[in-house]
Amino acid sequence: MLIIRGQDGVIRAFHNVCGHRAHPLLEDSGNRKLITCPYRQWCYGSDGKFRQACGRDSLKDWIPDNADLKPARREDYCGFLFVNMDPDTRPLIDQAAVLLKDMKDACPRFDELVRAERWEVDVNANWKAVIDNNHEC
Ligand code: FES
Repeated sequence: MLIIRGQDGVIRAFHNVCGHRAHPLLEDSGNRKLITCPYRQWCYGSDGKFRQACGRDSLKDWIPDNADLKPARREDYCGFLFVNMDPDTRPLIDQAAVLLKDMKDACPRFDELVRAERWEVDVNANWKAVIDNNHEC
């Protein structure tokens, strides 16, 4: 998954796969205006639009009409980003309405919270179980 804030300020999510031969595009985090595939340098804008390929003229008939990055579904809720690889899936608010209501009930000012600290832990578990456990505390 590739999540990027475009130069227009919009946060988008894409499959982290090049349209040429499916090489992974980015690792870790960082700041860049263009996304360039490390394999043959197909290049995409921060909006996911295909921009350029080395030898583009000779590839003219080979580059698909839509070589843009494949989007994922991204939704914001109370300052959290939720991403689903399936752009056509039902909205989160429909799928997890009870969870989202519980969050708001437990913390009515949820969307006013600001991050005080950040740490990362790899957990071999379903993220929903981790959040549920966290809320019990
Ligand atoms: S896989 Fe990215 S340029 Fe070929």
